[in-house]
Amino acid sequence: MKYKILGIDTSCDETSASVIFDTKIQSNVMPSQTEIHAQYGGVMPSAAKLAHIERIDAVVQKALKQAKTRMENIDFIAATYGPGLAIALEVGLKKGIELAKKYNKPLVTINHMEGHLFSSLLQRNSTNTSNTTKLEFPVFGFLVSGGHTEIVYVEEFGKYKIIGETLDDACGECFDKCGRILGLGYPAGPVVSKFAKENRSKFNLLVYKHQQSVLVKATNKQTGVSYTLPIPMANSADLNFSYSGLKTAFKNLYDSIQNISKEEIIHLAVLFEEAALRQLEIKIEKALKQYKVKEILLGGGVVASARFRSKMISIAKRYNVGIRYPFSKKLTGDNAAMIAVAGLFRVNKYNLLHNPAQGIYIKDFETIDRDPSLILS
Ligand code: KG4
Ligand code: ZN
Repeated sequence: MKYKILGIDTSCDETSASVIFDTKIQSNVMPSQTEIHAQYGGVMPSAAKLAHIERIDAVVQKALKQAKTRMENIDFIAATYGPGLAIALEVGLKKGIELAKKYNKPLVTINHMEGHLFSSLLQRNSTNTSNTTKLEFPVFGFLVSGGHTEIVYVEEFGKYKIIGETLDDACGECFDKCGRILGLGYPAGPVVSKFAKENRSKFNLLVYKHQQSVLVKATNKQTGVSYTLPIPMANSADLNFSYSGLKTAFKNLYDSIQNISKEEIIHLAVLFEEAALRQLEIKIEKALKQYKVKEILLGGGVVASARFRSKMISIAKRYNVGIRYPFSKKLTGDNAAMIAVAGLFRVNKYNLLHNPAQGIYIKDFETIDRDPSLILS
């Protein structure tokens, strides 16, 4: 079925609302909170909550207006219940409940990661074809964001098995922390990527084994100076990730360089990016050797990195599997359109609007107030 859906996401620092029709985006509003959190060098939960409260009504109104529609014409609402910052999530979820009650609309609660997982299926409003029926399972979801680094084996919609995940920090978080060490502000991940992109050609990159470890070396082609970082977990048999060791090694390397120059900051950014992305490559390759899948769906903030995407495209080619990623950078990070599209798949899969007994279609709004996560399990 084709539905018009209002999506709402306030899981972290973006206050976002979106209207989609089928898989097509009609609006996706997300005013940035970056300036608010930059002063803290990271997301400050209480400030995020306040900003969500201040903005949510205007954001929803803007999403409806941009989509040239009204609440009355919405078929159902999809709002994120978690994971995320509890006090931030609450704002969007409560708004979803309030609108559902006021306009007598069904509300579907969505796992934020399920949104990232299906973000690549969103389409421009101008697209002629529909993406709804095109996905053939099983697929891998490769979710790489500021809070998660995981490979999800998706047997079919709603049947997920996390086959590999980070044991400590997430990849995006590590980008941010190491970029911050280099003085690149907040969030530093995109700046590290930009520096690396503009300067990578000035360095020779070499990945090699040394005793039990796998290392990356970046050598400045002009000066011959090299720096090295480890790729944690590269040799482990499982599909898990680890980024805290890379952060510590990076901090030690940074501290060992006296009077660091702009050139050396660039050198370290190039080296770091390679070490961080290599781990992702190694693990997805290992996963492809162990599981047969039709496609890889990329999702999460780090997918904004063109280098990451091109590495994944060549791996997918080599293993003869398809690959999808969001059509716009805006859809890689947190946004409500991805929550709406996950809502669409959930409603279609379980025929929710016609079969409320299936469980996820929420009539009893009071229950959701108590513990939204229980309703989905
Ligand atoms: O998905 P997202 O918006 O938020 C979470 O749910 O975590 O991901 C944000 C993360 C941040 O850590 C940010 O630094 C990282 O994605 N990121 C990048 C790039 N753009 C955003 N990391 C590397 N390269 C980029 N171009
Ligand atoms: Zn996210």
